[in-house]
Amino acid sequence: MRATDVIRQKRDGEALSEEAIDFFVRGVTDGSVPDYQATAFLMAVFWRGMTDQEAAWLTQAMTRSGDRADFSSIPGAKVDKHSTGGVGDKTSLVLAPLAAACGVIVPMMSGRALGHTGGTVDKLESIPGMTLSLDLDAMRGALAKVGCVLIQQTSRIAPADKKLYALRDVTATVESVPLICASIMSKKIAEGISALVLDVKAGRAAFMKTLDDARRLARLMVAIGNRSGVRSEALLTAMDVPLGRAVGNSIEVIESIETLKGRGPKDLEELSVALAARMVRLGGVAATNDEATAVVRRALASGAGVEKFRQIVEHQGGNPRIVDDYGLLPSAPHQETVPAPRGGIVTDIDAMEIGRASMVLGAGREKAEDSVDHAPGLWIRAHVGERVAAGEPLAELLFRDTRRAAEAASLVSKAFSIEDSAPPASPLILEEITT
Ligand code: URA
Repeated sequence: MRATDVIRQKRDGEALSEEAIDFFVRGVTDGSVPDYQATAFLMAVFWRGMTDQEAAWLTQAMTRSGDRADFSSIPGAKVDKHSTGGVGDKTSLVLAPLAAACGVIVPMMSGRALGHTGGTVDKLESIPGMTLSLDLDAMRGALAKVGCVLIQQTSRIAPADKKLYALRDVTATVESVPLICASIMSKKIAEGISALVLDVKAGRAAFMKTLDDARRLARLMVAIGNRSGVRSEALLTAMDVPLGRAVGNSIEVIESIETLKGRGPKDLEELSVALAARMVRLGGVAATNDEATAVVRRALASGAGVEKFRQIVEHQGGNPRIVDDYGLLPSAPHQETVPAPRGGIVTDIDAMEIGRASMVLGAGREKAEDSVDHAPGLWIRAHVGERVAAGEPLAELLFRDTRRAAEAASLVSKAFSIEDSAPPASPLILEEITT
């Protein structure tokens, strides 16, 4: 078999055999298939798509490209959550400690910020001392002691995805249902979990712009997870406006801790509790979603969630005092508000523009190898449905580099719509996919 034959078959719209997919993924992993052929393959898949069977084989081949973690020595169900990414989405920081406080074992492997979307790893790295690169033994130790570990992708888990994702990122081939599915699910299946809750975002600031595409991606991921022995469910959720009020790295940590203290924004709390409740049910702690929601709400109200967050931070080398003293987190030297051009009610905030503004301020990265600054970001001061007077702040920008503030302010101004009457209520959770 030759790589060119596999590329040609896909270019011509043929379905690939399991052997062909396996051959190609092994070649990408060991370097015998060079980047230019891998890229041609990715573009062919982007245009021609894949059958569900091909996507399942691609996922399995990528899972086999590295190790599969084994946490069977730790009693209890191991459950993770994955989000397809959005702006202001810090639910992982809230729900991982909440689910762990309810008795679920949570080995959570997260990604970094890319493009306009934020990354859990970057947010957590703003905590002084916190390390997210743990090997499997250290992960096992953390799970046994704390019940939750938050890590970044290791080179031993799905290395084929590491290579393919980097190529997709620079060749405009990210937004493909089979490629996203295989990328996410190969890592999750290799992570040694028994169940997975997926938050598949739909909307203008999500990879999947339409509900139909998000539904197709969610159904495929749920089917492939279940077939691989990982009980999987998905919520389809809206990603048109930023989630919560903080967009940045250290300020998203602050908002997550505030949410764990019961003082967070309602949308962030609602989604975090809904996802944590699914984890709790799949983890066998509760029999129904209603029961699981009550268990999670108790952990939130009692402070057990925020205490678990403190333990996780401390166990991973971070300074646990940040939970009580946000001044210990990186902060930007300059602040500037973006004023409302007129009075009225905020009817819309374009999350894409807000994500871009946060990147301009230095909180995100353009390329995978770029570093992020943990301090800058922006607080939304008037969210959708809230009334503002002319000149009152819509958002507060936090930055180091004054040259960037004007560009970010113009993006933020463009993001807001202000009208005379309130917008119709729009749901955050759009659908649930369980089989
Ligand atoms: N997140 C991933 O891990 N992979 C993708 O392809 C998209 C989002």
